[in-house]
Amino acid sequence: MKVPYLDLKAQYEPIRGEIAEAIQQVLDRTAFAGGPFVAKFEKEFAEFCGTQFAAGVGSGTEALWVALLGLGIGPGDEVITVPDTFIATAEAISYCGAKPVFVDVDPTTYNMDPSKVEPAITPKTKAIIPVHLFGQMADMDPIMEIARKRKLFVIEDASQAHGAEYKGKNAGSIGDAGCFSFYPGKNLGAYGEAGAIVTDNEELDKTMRMLRDHGQAKKYFHSLIGWNARMDGIQGAILSVKLKHLPAWNEGRRRNAAIYEELLKGVKGVTTPKEAGYAKHVYHIYAIRVADRDRLIAALAGKDIHCGIHYPIPVHLLDAYKSLNYGKGSFPVAEKSAAEFVSLPMYAELTGEQIDRVATELKAIVTVPVN
Ligand SMILES: Cc1ncc(COP(=O)(O)O)c(C=O)c1O
Repeated sequence: MKVPYLDLKAQYEPIRGEIAEAIQQVLDRTAFAGGPFVAKFEKEFAEFCGTQFAAGVGSGTEALWVALLGLGIGPGDEVITVPDTFIATAEAISYCGAKPVFVDVDPTTYNMDPSKVEPAITPKTKAIIPVHLFGQMADMDPIMEIARKRKLFVIEDASQAHGAEYKGKNAGSIGDAGCFSFYPGKNLGAYGEAGAIVTDNEELDKTMRMLRDHGQAKKYFHSLIGWNARMDGIQGAILSVKLKHLPAWNEGRRRNAAIYEELLKGVKGVTTPKEAGYAKHVYHIYAIRVADRDRLIAALAGKDIHCGIHYPIPVHLLDAYKSLNYGKGSFPVAEKSAAEFVSLPMYAELTGEQIDRVATELKAIVTVPVN
């Protein structure tokens, strides 16, 4: 029995009819770039997140970039974030002309360690971007408290956390803005590239809508230098269909995580993910930690069980960010976890039988001593 890392087909099959109908409607109305289907999804997604506004854009990377630009972040500014993320978080900061400043993560949630934030603040700091890694939100209360005290903006990178909660509040709804990616493999994934920014700040929403559309609020009346960062109509229509299923898919992921936990708890040498007391985790990624991860991944692949690594190199050690002059040892928690993470297959459609097989094979491999 093969266990793929991801099975988008298994998710698509039951909604094939709804998707075809949604795409047909866009074709019939030729509403391809932005337009009514994107506007409809924006309204639904804002409601889902518990925010007043949502603006659709072309990707999660653009969501972060447009949010930063909308808040006026630019050259000379510093933005505090974590190295334990996908490079896009840092890229968006760099593409505004600002400088990413990293702080280490918490050893159990792998999210921004709030105690590390204040010492990293300088007169140039303008914003903080906590990343809700793997589907679990960062500890937002202390982060918001520091931000309010030091007059900094907070942008949540909720690209991996659609539907996740912090003390009952939705991902994206706590900071000044929340950014989402709808990359196909995400908990809410488009059938192409897409992203969105949610906020309660009407002025910011207006500015971001202009920035994503060449700086215009009215066609050809460009009052800002913007960009083409619009969402496609087809993606908006598809996302509207898929949003209705998201709560059930997230519950499926939570159920599967509970099965993994039951089967893997207490296995020597394996650290399973922990749901923080404040959190509702939506398990975008189910990352365990093992010391000898290359051996485990290769042995599981040999049994047709496929894993991922998110992410093998923390951002501060990537060649792209050499110029920031961080080195090995700069962020010990992020570095150690990055060396040990193994992402096990995780999606709502994963069967109990498949999880059982992953756990059985995994246990057999990690309990065999390396010679
Ligand atoms: C934490 C994080 N931030 C940003 C992004 C960028 O999103 P996208 O791939 O839609 O540009 C991703 C997605 O890969 C992500 O996981």
